Amino acid sequence: MKGFVVHQASGALRGKFVFPGDKSIAHRCVILSALSRKAVTITNFPTNEDCLATIQVFRQLGVRINHAISKQLLVVSGHGLHGLRKPSGPIVIKESGTTFRLLLGVLAGQPFSVTLSAGKALSRRPMARVTKPLRLMGTRIHPIRNTQDSIQEEFPPLTICGGDLHAITYKMPVASAQVKSAILLAGLYAQGITKIIEPVRTRDHTERILTLFNAEIKKRGNAIELCGGKELKAPKKIMVPGDISSAAFFIVLACIMPQAHITIKHISLNPSRTGALGVLKRMGARITATRSLSHRVSSNPEPQGDISVKSSTLKSTVVERNEIPSLIDELPILMVAAACARGKTVFEGVGELRVKETDRIRSMSDNLQKMGVKISIIKRGVREDIVVEGAKELKGARVKSFGDHRTAMSMVVAGLKAKGSTRIDDVACIGKSFPRFIELVKRLVS
Ligand code: S3P
Repeated sequence: MKGFVVHQASGALRGKFVFPGDKSIAHRCVILSALSRKAVTITNFPTNEDCLATIQVFRQLGVRINHAISKQLLVVSGHGLHGLRKPSGPIVIKESGTTFRLLLGVLAGQPFSVTLSAGKALSRRPMARVTKPLRLMGTRIHPIRNTQDSIQEEFPPLTICGGDLHAITYKMPVASAQVKSAILLAGLYAQGITKIIEPVRTRDHTERILTLFNAEIKKRGNAIELCGGKELKAPKKIMVPGDISSAAFFIVLACIMPQAHITIKHISLNPSRTGALGVLKRMGARITATRSLSHRVSSNPEPQGDISVKSSTLKSTVVERNEIPSLIDELPILMVAAACARGKTVFEGVGELRVKETDRIRSMSDNLQKMGVKISIIKRGVREDIVVEGAKELKGARVKSFGDHRTAMSMVVAGLKAKGSTRIDDVACIGKSFPRFIELVKRLVS
C-alpha cells in the first residue's frame, strides 16, 4: 500500500510530552559556538535532518563537533571568529534553508571563497533577500546557474567570496529572521556598527544567543545594532528548550479532539515564536502556559515553560499581518484549526508561505479542500490573504505532503479528526524537523 494512512481517532487523548530542542535555536547555538574559542556543550540538541546539516557544514569548515545522539548532546569546539578553514570542495546543504542563509552571513566574513549548493527544493528558494545586503557589506557572491527569474532573484548554488566587510544600516524589505540573522552574523566581521531595521519584529534567537556570547548588541524598537570586530565569549553550556513549532501540531490536535488533555514540558515560550498560542486562545482554545524561571539561569537564553491543552470549541478569528512572523511556521496547522472552528477565519498577508519548503498556500488549500473545507485566496496587489471557512465535519481524503514536513504533519492531524481514513502520499519529509512525530502521535492515539 502506497502512502501513509491515518484513521479518525477515537477515545480520550491524554499524555505528557517533552519535545526535541527547538530547531531555530539549535542552528544558532552550533553556529555561534563554532565561532568561539571554548568548547560549548549544547543539551537537548534535536536530531533532525536540518540540524544535522548545520553540524556537517561546520565540520567541513574545520570545527570539531562531537554528537552523542542518544543523549541529545553536542560539544562544539571552535577556534574563534577567524578560526574557520576553507573546505576542500563545495558545501552541499541538502534542504535546510536556515543553514544556507545563515551560513552565507558567516562566509561573508571569511578570507576564502566557497561554493554552496542545495537539494532540489532549496535550490528553488529565493536567496536575493540575503545576497543583496551582504553585497552592500562588501561580499562578492556569484550565482552559478542563470535562470529566467535570475534577473530579479537568485537561487542556489552560489559561490561566495568573503573578505573585508563594512557595517551597514539596512532597512529590511521582508520580515525574515533568516535574513536578519545572516546580516548580524556578517556584522560580527564588519568594522563599525551594523544596524538592521525590521518591518515587523521576527524571532529574536540570534540576538539572544549573541548576548549570551557577550557580543555588543542592542535592541531599540524594531532596530538592532551590533558592534563588529570583537571575539565572542562562549558559555560552557547552553540548554535548548523544546520546539514550539513541533508542539503546535499536538496543541491543535488536543484542541480539536473530544476528551483531550495534554501537557507539554520545557517548551520554548519566546514571545517572538508564540503567536499561534495567542491566536488559538482568541479562538477559544483552553490553553494554559506557565513560564518557568529557569531562563534566568545563565546557560539558558530563552524563556521556556509548560503548556496544558484541553479539548476546546473553536470559533473563527482574524490573524493580522503583524502577527504573521510570530507564527509563520504554524500557519499550516492553524489552517487545520480554522477548518475545525465555527465561522470564517482570515489569515492576512501570508504571501511568504509561497516560498517555504513548498508553496504552503497551495499545499494546504488543495488538501483541505479535498477534505471538504471551503478556502478562498484573496490577492490585493502583492498581499495575499487566506479565508478558511470552518467545516461541520472533515472528510477523509487522498492528500499530498508536497515534500513539505509541515504540510505532512498538518495532514496527519487533520486525518485524525476527519471521518473515515486519509491517505498522505509521503511522510518521509517529516524527518526534516521532527523524525519522531509519527511515533509520538501513535503513542497519543493508541
Ligand atoms: C527561521 C525563520 C523563518 C522560518 C524558518 C526558520 C529561522 O523563515 O519560517 O522555518 O530559524 O530563522 P524566514 O526568515 O524566511 O521567515
